[in-house]
Amino acid sequence: MLKNNNPFVSYKIEHNIGLITIDYPPVNALSQQVRQGITQGIECFQNEPAVQAIIIQCAQKTFIAGADIKEFGQPPTEPFLPDVVNQIENCNKPVVAALFGTSLGGGFEVALACHYRVALANAKVGLPEVNLGLIPGAGGTQRLPRIVGGAKALQMITEGKHHAVTSLAESGLIDAIFPLESDLCDQTIDFVKQKLGERQLPVKRSGERPIINDVDWVDALQKIKRKARGKEAPVVAVEVLQQTCDKSLTDGMKIERDAFLKLRDSAQSAALRYAFSAEKAAAKVNFNSDPLPVEIVGVIGGGTMGAGIATAFLLSGFNVILIERDDCALAAGTDKIIKNLQTAEQRGIIKQHQYEAGLKRLSTALDYQPLRQCDLVIEAVFEDIQVKKEIFAQLGQICQPNCVLATNTSYLNIDEIALATGRPEQVIGMHFFSPANIMKLLEVVRAAKSSEQALATAMMVAKKLGKIAVLVGVCFGFAGNRMYTRYGREIQQMLLEGASIEQIDKAMTNWGMAMGPLAVQDLSGIDIGHNARSAQPFPEHDPGYFRAAAVMVENGRLGRKTGAGFYHYDESGKAVSDSKASELIAQKAQQLAIEQRSFTDDDIVERAILALISEGLSLYEEGIVRQLSDIDVIWLHGYGFPRHKGGPMFYARQLGVEKVTQLLVKQQSIAGKQIWPDLKMGSLS
Ligand code: 3HC
Ligand code: NAI
Repeated sequence: MLKNNNPFVSYKIEHNIGLITIDYPPVNALSQQVRQGITQGIECFQNEPAVQAIIIQCAQKTFIAGADIKEFGQPPTEPFLPDVVNQIENCNKPVVAALFGTSLGGGFEVALACHYRVALANAKVGLPEVNLGLIPGAGGTQRLPRIVGGAKALQMITEGKHHAVTSLAESGLIDAIFPLESDLCDQTIDFVKQKLGERQLPVKRSGERPIINDVDWVDALQKIKRKARGKEAPVVAVEVLQQTCDKSLTDGMKIERDAFLKLRDSAQSAALRYAFSAEKAAAKVNFNSDPLPVEIVGVIGGGTMGAGIATAFLLSGFNVILIERDDCALAAGTDKIIKNLQTAEQRGIIKQHQYEAGLKRLSTALDYQPLRQCDLVIEAVFEDIQVKKEIFAQLGQICQPNCVLATNTSYLNIDEIALATGRPEQVIGMHFFSPANIMKLLEVVRAAKSSEQALATAMMVAKKLGKIAVLVGVCFGFAGNRMYTRYGREIQQMLLEGASIEQIDKAMTNWGMAMGPLAVQDLSGIDIGHNARSAQPFPEHDPGYFRAAAVMVENGRLGRKTGAGFYHYDESGKAVSDSKASELIAQKAQQLAIEQRSFTDDDIVERAILALISEGLSLYEEGIVRQLSDIDVIWLHGYGFPRHKGGPMFYARQLGVEKVTQLLVKQQSIAGKQIWPDLKMGSLS
């Protein structure tokens, strides 16, 4: 009766318990064969008199991590997941889910349909569907609020986060939590045997209970609409829960399924699923050499970036040697790192003992000799090519032969820096984003002579840091900042042509950008980009385009740090409109005899986004990025591009070559000049 040809699901009986084991690498996703295997397993054990209870468990590193994302976009095949979960719940023998790793989405829905859930202490569960532009589609919106209550379920579903089972112990969701070092299978069998022996394992179907309705729905809907900022799925989640809170499981699941299928076919879900796969694609680089092990990391410069970089390494268990140029700067850098670690502890990212261990792994020096011990050194000093060349010349002399030497430069030519070492093959860029201990993005820069081993090492280190690394080539600003410069240039031109500061920022944030471009400049300091452009390491990026920024710098309006930039900042730090900034821009436009006109919000967005698209296409044509999707990953993680629009290049692909061309022509005719070079758009199709 246990005959089974399913390659990914196996059945076994032990101690009168039927074990259904899913083994479908890498994350036991619910592919058609896995769904089929679960269905047949339940059917088989239900009809087997020797079996008194059933356990659903997994091999690999996790319980089921969700529906199989690879199947989305293909015609659905039977058995459908909602039918599988209902079959589990309707089974007349108790079914127990044995959770470990991350039980997510459809995987968690399988667990919710089981009559009992047991877990290893470090297991996590969650309904992350909103991150893919979906809502749970197999009873998650119905069974979870019946167990943990509507308010908690609503929070879990709309936030899409992973939750430690230990944090849900009180909610009735988890029936037993086993110590980390124990064997989950043995523990689960013991749990079932004991309960069976005590006759305490009745079939307990959550679907038979009503939803615990503890939510003010009007308030919930208003809040989520504000928070979602254009994302559809979280709003649909609230609407579905509201509509179904007094319905039976069957009726509720029907409403849930209809909404799920509609979202699955939406543009937002396509974009969010694309973003997920683009991140995986960015990480997959075939180097012809293995990475070198890295334990000790040198960081030169303890300023904004150096302190953040050092913190990121300490948080991930590396030993760090921080080098500064004098006692005062060293004390300031160390202080920043300590504060960063303290904040991480206060926010619960690390525990007290990890904070202490992190501090112990930090050592400091004023000379470069201790860097002899390092496997990787990252330079984060002033953006000055001479200073950096001198430092790299010393590193070439001091560091051990295999040590990878990285610069965090934003704009400078790494090929030139590399030559100063006498061993350019060891030199790469590791361009972190500020704050480096928080921002996930890292551009790993391949210079002309960088070795595969050095690059492979940086990519491996990035993974250990929990960063999303993208491999790029050398050019002005690499991929991200070069595109950002092109985008900024168009924003600046629009300011001079008559668009207001407030209108530009509002148009871009309403479209979905996390922040308005001028508010961003005020935050990062208008002088930073101005100085980088003026240094002209790559002559084609003419500082003359940025005259509105230049006029701010000339008037000492550097942004937040000086209390005024494009905006004025009141005592509480709130940005307020400032007529002085607008006047300065208008005067500049007059001096330059730039004709003034009015802009629609759509005009602003089109011109700004086309700037990104055009520069992205140039980067790809020049081979600075390996694939267009890498640009999207950079913009999603480094520049606040709305994830539900997939990234600038995905957005362009969705528009299609014809539409992009049409918009380019339209914007150029409005501007009365050629704004974009002749673009090769073949890569968009
Ligand atoms: N389907 C198919 N493949 C998946 C997958 C899924 N749900 N989740 C992860 N994978 C694949 C990845 O693409 C990757 O493949 P690769 O090795 O070929 O690149 C591999 O598994 C490993 O993934 P990660 O590199 O992300 O591994 P991590 O250990 O860092 O993370 C994870 C594991 C936490 C499971 C993470 O991959 C993740 O968050 N996955 C998405 C989970 C999810 O969104 N589930 C819900 C799906 S929608 C759903 O279930 C609808 C239902 O309600 C009907
Ligand atoms: P910063 O001015 O905050 O810090 C620079 C630090 O380097 C100072 O603490 C200084 O004392 C130290 N320093 C200078 N010369 C030194 C030497 N010879 N030896 C040891 N230490 C020395 O500068 P920031 O912002 O941290 O930038 C550092 C680098 O990172 C630059 O190349 C910059 O372009 C790049 N970068 C900056 C980003 C940002 O948002 N600030 C983002 C990404 C990269």
